[in-house]
Amino acid sequence: MIDITPVTSNPSALVDSTTVSFTEFIKHEKPKSMTVAVIGLGYVGLPLSLQFARCGAKVLGLDVDTAKVEALTASQSYIKHIAPETIKTVVDDKSFIASTDFSLIRNVDAVIICVPTPLNKNREPDISYIIETGKALAPYLQKGTLVVLESTTYPGTTDEDLRSVIETHSGLKAGTDFHLAFSPEREDPGNPSSVVATIPKVVGGYTPACLKKAIELYSMAIKTLVPVSSCRVAEATKLLENTFRGVNIALVNELKIVYSAMGIDVWEVINAAKTKPFGFMAFYPGPGLGGHCIPIDPFYLTWKAREYGQHTRFIELAGEINTAMPDYVVHRIADALNDRSKAIKGSRLLIVGLAYKPNVDDERESPSYVLLEKLQNRGAEVAYYDPYVPVIKLTREHPQFAGMRSVSWDSDTLQSFDLAIIATNHSNVNYQQLSDWSNGIVDSRNAMSGLKTKAHQVWKA
Ligand SMILES: NC(=O)c1ccc[n+]([C@@H]2O[C@H](COP(=O)([O-])OP(=O)(O)OC[C@H]3O[C@@H](n4cnc5c(N)ncnc54)[C@H](O)[C@@H]3O)[C@@H](O)[C@H]2O)c1
Repeated sequence: MIDITPVTSNPSALVDSTTVSFTEFIKHEKPKSMTVAVIGLGYVGLPLSLQFARCGAKVLGLDVDTAKVEALTASQSYIKHIAPETIKTVVDDKSFIASTDFSLIRNVDAVIICVPTPLNKNREPDISYIIETGKALAPYLQKGTLVVLESTTYPGTTDEDLRSVIETHSGLKAGTDFHLAFSPEREDPGNPSSVVATIPKVVGGYTPACLKKAIELYSMAIKTLVPVSSCRVAEATKLLENTFRGVNIALVNELKIVYSAMGIDVWEVINAAKTKPFGFMAFYPGPGLGGHCIPIDPFYLTWKAREYGQHTRFIELAGEINTAMPDYVVHRIADALNDRSKAIKGSRLLIVGLAYKPNVDDERESPSYVLLEKLQNRGAEVAYYDPYVPVIKLTREHPQFAGMRSVSWDSDTLQSFDLAIIATNHSNVNYQQLSDWSNGIVDSRNAMSGLKTKAHQVWKA
């Protein structure tokens, strides 16, 4: 199997391929060629497109974001862990083309949908991106084409919502005229040993023939496939995986507070517990949940469960605990400042790590934003440092921070803050320098463990 591990970045090798037309692209046959459209070229869709392209498929990448399409056409990457050379290879050998033109779907054997599935402002599922995509692809869908949804969502989205929108707008019938399937993505951003090709992939079909077709497609690019009996089982599997994570993180977050009150370090406890060779899996506490999956996906299930008169108490409780974690960190910041006869109001505070998890540039739903907001609301002067996020982009949730820039990493800058708050523990941050240069540290990630620090300098949170 071919993986898509990025190679060293070499921007000088960029070429302008904007003139390659789709007709020329499709004519440039490859052995065992299959044409796959991937809709939504983000953190999930782009690596998947590259994986298919490198395994012999012709890949048409579709996105509504023209900036992404232009970047890919010029072999540029907008995702940190995907090197431009990886894109250039598949653009140059005509395995991959990016476009905004949905009519090109007429020419493909399969369509894979990887669009966002956020929550709306009432924290309910927003599947409008899936519905819009269904409407956009339907007029061009040909008989016999396979449509696979990969976006994380509640059971029933594929065989109810997506099926009905495609059938209405195409006049074709799922299971008879076109194939329909669901296959959840299992991306692990920031984990260098996580490679699309080697992560087993669950696949569920609308009919047995749909499943067979989907297995045929994915077996081109993925080593291990896990067929299940329906789209709903595949959708429910993904929600179990993410709920499992959310609930277990809530458990250690709660234990962090309880053990801290007892004078026990929860990280030491977890490290000891994880030596048990069976029946235990280590999860780590933090300042709250972030990212596009764990804080969101379980609530897709909660919402759908109500339709069946069911309640998801574990999910609600875990959500409550995880959402309260930034308040706990603020409380510890107040303690640390109090120790220095200071208040939050008027203090200069530095958040270290804006991304929601280590070693990624993805700051969606990051609890660091919640910390910035809560501390600002209490009258602190707040800044952030993150080598992966030099400037904050405009977000729907926190538009007030758009344009804010990461401070520089030097002793003068760090000394100018009353406290540094470690919210994300990127491995390329020098925490010994942080100890040497900062006046005080509130550590929500145990990043200072084992380093030389001064007395009363570090407060775990
Ligand atoms: N990021 C992860 O680690 C991860 C892991 C597993 C599953 N997922 C799930 O995969 C899905 C996609 O997540 P992501 O992180 O790749 O999101 P993303 O925001 O990085 O990418 C989504 C892409 O879809 C595009 N898009 C939006 N509407 C569109 C439309 N109507 N037509 C075409 N393109 C459109 C956006 O421009 C964007 O490029 C979500 O359901 C998410 O929950 C994400």
